[in-house]
Amino acid sequence: MSQPHQSMRLADYRPPAYTITDVDLTFELEDHQTRVTAVSQVVRQGETQAVLELDGEHLTLLALTVDGEDKTPEQQTDTALVLTDLPEQFELKVVTEIDPANNTALEGLYKSDGTFCTQCEAQGFRRITYFLDRPDVMAKYSVKVIADKHKYPSLLSNGNLVERGDLDDGRHWVRWQDPFAKPCYLFALVAGDFDCLTDRYTTGSGREVALELYVDKGNRHRGYHALASLKKAMQWDEQVYGLEYDLGVYMVVAVDFFNMGAMENKGLNIFNAKFVLADAESATDDDYFNIESVIAHEYFHNWTGNRVTCRDWFQLSLKEGLTVFRDQQFSADMASPALVRIKQARVIREHQFAEDAGPMAHPIRPEEVMEMNNFYSVTVYDKGAEVIRMLQRLLGQGGFRKGMDLYFERHDGQAVTCDDFVQAMADANGVDLEQFKRWYSQSGTPQVTVQSEYDAKHQQLILTLSQHTPPTQDQADKQPLPIPFGVELVDEHGSRSEVLSLSESEQRFCFDHVASNPAIACLTGFSAPVKVKQTIADSDLIRIALKGQDDFVRWDACQTLFSQHIHQLAEDSSRNSSEQVSEALSELIAELLKSPPEDAALLAEMLMLPSFDTLSQQQDIVNVDGLLRARKLIVTRLAQEFATQWQQLVDERPKQDYAYTAEQANWRRLLDRAMFYLAHSELPEAETQLQQVYQDSDNMTQTLGVLTGCQQANLSLFDSLMSDFEQLWRKDSLVMDKWFSLHASRPQDDMAGQLESLMEHPMYSINNPNKVRAIWGPFAMRNPQAFHQADGRGYRLLTDYLLNLDSVNPQVASRLVTPLLAFKRFDLGRQQHMRQQLERLAEQATLSRDLYEKVTRALK
Ligand code: ARG
Ligand code: ZN
Repeated sequence: MSQPHQSMRLADYRPPAYTITDVDLTFELEDHQTRVTAVSQVVRQGETQAVLELDGEHLTLLALTVDGEDKTPEQQTDTALVLTDLPEQFELKVVTEIDPANNTALEGLYKSDGTFCTQCEAQGFRRITYFLDRPDVMAKYSVKVIADKHKYPSLLSNGNLVERGDLDDGRHWVRWQDPFAKPCYLFALVAGDFDCLTDRYTTGSGREVALELYVDKGNRHRGYHALASLKKAMQWDEQVYGLEYDLGVYMVVAVDFFNMGAMENKGLNIFNAKFVLADAESATDDDYFNIESVIAHEYFHNWTGNRVTCRDWFQLSLKEGLTVFRDQQFSADMASPALVRIKQARVIREHQFAEDAGPMAHPIRPEEVMEMNNFYSVTVYDKGAEVIRMLQRLLGQGGFRKGMDLYFERHDGQAVTCDDFVQAMADANGVDLEQFKRWYSQSGTPQVTVQSEYDAKHQQLILTLSQHTPPTQDQADKQPLPIPFGVELVDEHGSRSEVLSLSESEQRFCFDHVASNPAIACLTGFSAPVKVKQTIADSDLIRIALKGQDDFVRWDACQTLFSQHIHQLAEDSSRNSSEQVSEALSELIAELLKSPPEDAALLAEMLMLPSFDTLSQQQDIVNVDGLLRARKLIVTRLAQEFATQWQQLVDERPKQDYAYTAEQANWRRLLDRAMFYLAHSELPEAETQLQQVYQDSDNMTQTLGVLTGCQQANLSLFDSLMSDFEQLWRKDSLVMDKWFSLHASRPQDDMAGQLESLMEHPMYSINNPNKVRAIWGPFAMRNPQAFHQADGRGYRLLTDYLLNLDSVNPQVASRLVTPLLAFKRFDLGRQQHMRQQLERLAEQATLSRDLYEKVTRALK
């Protein structure tokens, strides 16, 4: 096994012994020999003899001076430079050389195709120069970039462009200055040759902002949606939070090689092109939705993240949980609020609950971290956002806003902690949030058990709620949490709802004047990230689905009904037909189709069976074969029983020209559902009909809907449409990612040959994370039939690949290993196969810190 890597603990946080107030950076850009000169003004903050330990990785040190004099470091290692005998205040000059063209990890400065760009969060700046690479060191940056003028006409960095000029040798240079002090993780640099879309925005107080969107040549027409989204986000943040943009220019650059979604560098966001580029022919409604939400997310970071940043990386949720919450609020205001909430509940149930149940369980504010990149997690981000949402529910919209105002008033320009945030909320509202803070320190998924007693004589309903959080790998003891628990009581006369405050292990709540025994719908609006245990009759679920007021519980009642039936069928392997179990389901679907909810997107979601991942979260030991079989039986049954209705929905699709409007997108969601069932209906004319939909499609949403339906139902039409699709799009990188994913998620037993041939495709490259994710993500995470083959071949395929990928790009490898980490939740046979593969990884002498942390935690 590779050298043990060190962990960091929150408890060990100490303020830095030195800080840096100003930095002057000069970049002389070359593919393999980029020279970086960093001149920093350093000030001692700790005791006189304090040593200065600068972070640095993959650097060649060329020169080092203190106040102009050469300096010999006390110590130089692979990761640090230690200096001693330093004055109280001095100028430190460091000259390093780096190799961006060979930087396949995509951290620090690297080349994405022909473009130089940076990714410094969390700890990438140390791959650029020796520095105090920690967020509580905030400096003002002045940046000079020198590069070939012909190849790199655009030279960008943070803040304002202050000077530019030409050199005699064909190079040119620019100087950027950022007036705001910032941590180095927000530093950015871009050099390339782009098409640039420009626009203007005037803030509420009259500041003129130039908006600039940089995209690959020839992609200008795909930038308009992102630019429009940016303006919406700017306006929304002024209206809802009173927050304005603070520089004269806001730049967004789209690049092809990027580890994550996007990055909020001050004034210069760098984006995965996938979250920028869209037009009707090449992007789906979901792409449009995601672009709007990621653009907004990065924009909102300017206040929640940049103006007020994190003291240390354990506090990551301070900016990410809060900013995800803000982007969700924004998305809900832009489109279908029900859909946004349902999507989010799904993320929590499919992925966050799984993280809690596995070896990487951690609180939203982790306490021990080996590789920070491993904690850009669904827990920190999405559960973090749920925690903010609960706070808002607790304090009310007005109270929450007061808390936000106080937070900015107190901490603008500072690097702070989650406690500082909660304190601002508490002080602004005069409330005590001590117990609430447990949400930050306690990991795991709380389970709330609901019991009800109805007293007809007194027209009284008593609800007994009890909470219990099972131990997690990182933390054995759990305490009760304050849980806002929304309930809606639905009876034949109507419904009433209330948010109950559950804060003890067990509490009783009494409802008076309850005329008849109601159906009890739990967790209205998905009011807390918890699991609910409740015995509930099919008839009550149907009542909630049809008569409930809260969109989330209506959808959730359908999910529960489907789940209960799928589990029943899964446990009884002698049944190979869904006949006996699906009466209630038929009734539900019939009623939904007869009197559908107004929001077509809600109907579409209500008609969708829970995913394999959601179902498996409901079992202690996942019954892979049973779940796959039962789910399929029920799909087929519903497809056939309502075949004419699906057919009719497909036939009656509106045939307007494509526009990304909420109304059209919601309708297309329903069309997707109908096509999915139609594909499974076994109607003789189904294929012809689907082919027709494919042919008359003027947009990617509809096209992909046909392909997905055919793929899931295993229709032969799938192959012919896929080759047609490839012919059409083989030059288009982003669209081909969809094609790769469709192949990789096709349900089948043996994927070895298939994966092999996808990786031989000219568009594939192991260096491009989007390609890697487009193939291996769907295979390992959305193709249970192929991945969970009982003989372990799926696990082996993934591991073979990870062994290669880890040395190219550890961050991406570390994300892809996730499905193997859950091995303890599978049957013994699969467990053994998965464990074997984890052991193969563990035996690697050169395993990255990223994979090392996950694999050792899993095998513990
Ligand atoms: N702060 C970015 C965001 O908007 C995420 C960047 C994380 N990058 C990384 N390599 N860990 O969420
Ligand atoms: Zn973020």
